[in-house]
Amino acid sequence: MNNNITYNKETSCFYLETSNTLYIIKLVRNKYFAQLYYGEKTTFVDEYKPRPLAFASYLDDGEEKIYFETMMAEYPSFGSGDFWADAIRLRNYKGNCVTDFEYNNYEIINGRINIHNLPCANVDNKTQTLVLTLKDNVLNCTLKLCYTVFYDTDIISRHVVLINNGNEDVIIENIKSLNLDIPNNDYDIVTLNGAHYFERTIRRSSLNYGKQVLYSARGTSSHHTNPFVAICDNSADYTKGNVYGFNFIYSGSFENIVEKTSVDKIRIQIGVNGAVEGQVLQGGVEYYTPEAVMTYTNKGLGQMSRNFHSFIKKHIIPLSFNHRHPIVLNTWEAFYFDIDEKKLLKLADVAVDLGIETLVVDDGWFSVRNSDNAGLGDWWVNNDKFPSGLKMFSNKIAKKGLSLGIWIEPEMINPNSELFKKHPEWCLKAYGRKELLSRNQHVLNIALPEVLTYLKETFFQTFKDVKFNYIKWDMNRSLSAVGNNFNGEKLIDNAIARKYIENMYNLHDWFLQTFPGIMIEGCSGGGGRYDMAMMRYTSQIWTSDNTFPADRARIQHGSLLAYPACVMSCHVSNPEESLKKPEEYDYRYKIALQGVLGYEMDLLTLNRENFDCIKKQISEYKRIRDFAVLGNYYPLFAKNETYVHYYHLENIDSFIIHYATQKQVGEKITISIPQASDNDSYIDRKNNKVYKGINIKEGIELTFDKKADYIIIEKQI
Ligand code: GLA
Repeated sequence: MNNNITYNKETSCFYLETSNTLYIIKLVRNKYFAQLYYGEKTTFVDEYKPRPLAFASYLDDGEEKIYFETMMAEYPSFGSGDFWADAIRLRNYKGNCVTDFEYNNYEIINGRINIHNLPCANVDNKTQTLVLTLKDNVLNCTLKLCYTVFYDTDIISRHVVLINNGNEDVIIENIKSLNLDIPNNDYDIVTLNGAHYFERTIRRSSLNYGKQVLYSARGTSSHHTNPFVAICDNSADYTKGNVYGFNFIYSGSFENIVEKTSVDKIRIQIGVNGAVEGQVLQGGVEYYTPEAVMTYTNKGLGQMSRNFHSFIKKHIIPLSFNHRHPIVLNTWEAFYFDIDEKKLLKLADVAVDLGIETLVVDDGWFSVRNSDNAGLGDWWVNNDKFPSGLKMFSNKIAKKGLSLGIWIEPEMINPNSELFKKHPEWCLKAYGRKELLSRNQHVLNIALPEVLTYLKETFFQTFKDVKFNYIKWDMNRSLSAVGNNFNGEKLIDNAIARKYIENMYNLHDWFLQTFPGIMIEGCSGGGGRYDMAMMRYTSQIWTSDNTFPADRARIQHGSLLAYPACVMSCHVSNPEESLKKPEEYDYRYKIALQGVLGYEMDLLTLNRENFDCIKKQISEYKRIRDFAVLGNYYPLFAKNETYVHYYHLENIDSFIIHYATQKQVGEKITISIPQASDNDSYIDRKNNKVYKGINIKEGIELTFDKKADYIIIEKQI
């Protein structure tokens, strides 16, 4: 057994260790948990001391008094004397909300406890889990606090399990996956906010007193507020400073709280949005929260990003996937719904000539889907567009040496569809309430088992003989008026929002199992579901519908704060007529090669010059794509719409430095790379200049000639 988690009877403390961090939980009076320490490894930690305070409620049981309000809590509950944000609030059948769990026992296990019906991180042979079991005898409930240590990546994950041991219902009003109290400091809060077309802009501000609530109530992790959040020293930058980073392995509505209290503690909570997902827990039933993750580093925001990236690469992305990221041609931005077999076969020929690896047939291939107001739900091929059927079409594509990808949006239904005529009651909406449309579509209530069955059967019939190995899975609206569309007799329970998410994962899993070897590219109107849980199934995600290079540079920079480049789908898109020149294609390419490269343009109308330019890009990218897919990310600079970072490819000890700006070109920048080894020689591939490692460490001056540019610094063997 590893010793990454230990319990010391003398100190009554649990010690959770990762490669660089230590987390200590103190068991106070054999009943309550105090958070003692979270930070870099140390042997000296202040003892737990009760801190009296006027107006604080305290426990006076003959021993030293306990003041819950000032105690650093592990998992604070409502009404227990801790007056700050509660992590758990349960209402019993009498309407009473006071919740008070006390310690019962602990267990340390190798590996982890899986989470019912939800994705969670994969283990390795160093993974261990601490399970603290608590009881509330008035509610007749058991609570398990689970802490899983992912040693090499400096990540500790948290989730909780609630068991109702009684016969009476308990209403879950709030149940967070993670609570962390840390001592107050001059901290900043860093978040990823945006909208459709402007996803994941980094926002940083000083943390003020009170609660900051970052949430989504849309049934998705959303374009608007990503579940990632970090707290850092206000002096922290990419290379220095204390940073605590958090994220959530969940794609539904969430509620993350950061609270700066007036009693010298800061509280961070990650969890589901109780207002949307609150539910009744019947007697004998268990409830699992999704998994939340946290990391700490004193080496700045860059190290925090690398911790998350390596965790996602090692423990999140599907194990079978094995780094296969083809260069795709996607049909959407060039043709929208106007696609057919003839055109696609012609396109495929050009794509092959260019070196493209996969043709992704986007929206428009099925039913009467000629615009966005019809067809969703009717997942059979449009025979007018594909007269010889999908199977034959896929054979023809395979013969040309291309792989095939197909777009689907399984969670949706247009009122203008066969499915709606047959099953209007399958729309997600509360009984008796009005239906709300978005992009002319409703959400299918996949919380219903019969809907899930319909989708599996229909997709199986449509795809069973088709040669394809790529799905683009879209989701183009938020969930509103979530409820039960049945008049009383057919209630599932009131946990539809959660069941929806569980079945959405179930359907992803079904695709991966039923069509072995396929990969799924996630998408939700661009990057509206860009979260760790989706990444358990979708090894890459369409970053944004916005492919303007200047905006993309910002969106990609924000995405890289929490998620690795290998999940970031980046396409060179169709420029407007006057811009169809090699310089513009070059600009778009230089931004797109920061992630997984693809193209979305009309290849049939490319002139020779542009064709040659793209052909060159593709053969070049094939030589360098490992930097983005496997490299480690080091952000250097981000100000006034200028972004500089590099990827380090450890196996060949080489670097690719990316630069993007809106300023005048020809900028000289001094770049220092601490990973360069002193006595080795490195060559700048742009001008064949040779440097000693020690010079690169100290800083070399590089010139970037274009609005987007890159320089490879390669170790000489
Ligand atoms: C969304 C996606 C696009 C495209 C369209 C198709 O907007 O983000 O890439 O697939 O849907 O309708």
